[in-house]
Amino acid sequence: MENFDRKILVTGGAGFIGSHVVRRFLTNYPNYLIVNADKLTYAGNLANLSDVEHLPNYRFEKIDIVDAEAVKGVFNKYGITDVIHLAAESHVDRSIEGPMEFVMTNVVGTVNLLHTAKDAWKGEAHVFHHVSTDEVYGSLGDTGLFTEATPYDPRSPYSASKASSDHFVMAFYHTYHLPVKMSNCSNNYGSHHFPEKLIPLMIHNIQNKKPLPIYGKGDNIRDWLWVVDHASAIDAIFHKGRIGESYNVGGLNEWTNIELVKFLCKVMDEKLGRTTGESESLITYVTDRAGHDKRYAIDASKLEKELGWKPSITFEEGLSKTVDWYLSNHEWVEKVTSGSYQEYYETMYGNR
Ligand code: NAD
Ligand code: TYD
Repeated sequence: MENFDRKILVTGGAGFIGSHVVRRFLTNYPNYLIVNADKLTYAGNLANLSDVEHLPNYRFEKIDIVDAEAVKGVFNKYGITDVIHLAAESHVDRSIEGPMEFVMTNVVGTVNLLHTAKDAWKGEAHVFHHVSTDEVYGSLGDTGLFTEATPYDPRSPYSASKASSDHFVMAFYHTYHLPVKMSNCSNNYGSHHFPEKLIPLMIHNIQNKKPLPIYGKGDNIRDWLWVVDHASAIDAIFHKGRIGESYNVGGLNEWTNIELVKFLCKVMDEKLGRTTGESESLITYVTDRAGHDKRYAIDASKLEKELGWKPSITFEEGLSKTVDWYLSNHEWVEKVTSGSYQEYYETMYGNR
């Protein structure tokens, strides 16, 4: 173990984005030890890593980042040199139902990690990369893009907890000179995405000919990025980004929810051999989300200019690959949509 160049703690590595980050680092950097620390909540699934977990530079630790002793234990056990922090409660609708879990994991858990890193790291080159969201900037009107200079204006319990964690990260940089880096990314989509978020939920419902619940009028806008491109951005920022800086990540790909779902219906009708318009007829408008942010859109020019990052594929290609993955991974879908998912779905959508 001592011979690895870096010993990186990836928190939340069993989640959607975390599993893509773990996969990328394990395969691109065999000289790094990758320690995946994850509580395995409903959103964490070790099956997300079944193709790479055999690799000799991979370790898994089931811990809750809220547990300071457990975090310290993992740091000491492996001599952790760097952190890529993705563990979080991540779903806005769940944060509306119960904000406290979001405060615990996203705020307290982040501060635990910062504190442990500050105590463990003395002088040498280290990186604490905090993965965050564009939702901390609030909601845009019809025009304009979020830049790194946009003032924070979080409006959901989820984004408030992430904004708080971002502030703690920067506070540890300014106060203790902890070598932090931060990224704020737009909405991700891709394989291994838990079907509570818009795109995987719609794929699942289209496949099963269930109603497609569109909140409000469907005119809210999100800016979508393929998860593999987010992982490549994290790689670029982790290695080449400047200490104490934040970088916005996004691919200039805005869609209203209704247009996106209609496009997805078209793609899936073709793949499933259904008649045109068959899936679209499943669209059902439901009660809007409380405090629903109107529009998110990211200006990623700092990342592009400074680090030469850009998305690798178009949305059309990424969505097609994503649908193919869901259609050919029945076992994964079965596993995550049985049990408590059914209760979640009934609670959220039963009387909407
Ligand atoms: P996810 O919900 O799919 O996964 C979260 C992971 O964190 C799970 O594996 C879960 O088990 C783990 N986790 C939760 N609480 C924990 C705790 N207390 N201790 C240890 N592990 C815990 O989330 P995601 O969509 O992969 O998001 C990952 C990160 O990226 C989050 O910080 C999120 O805020 C951020 N982000 C997400 C998006 C997006 O579109 N999904 C966009 C930008 C930023
Ligand atoms: P979501 O995937 O939850 O991401 P976020 O709220 O963090 O952006 O939702 C994306 C958009 O889709 C958002 O405007 C809410 C909307 N939405 C629906 O219309 N129906 C749904 O069932 C879900 C889950 C989301």
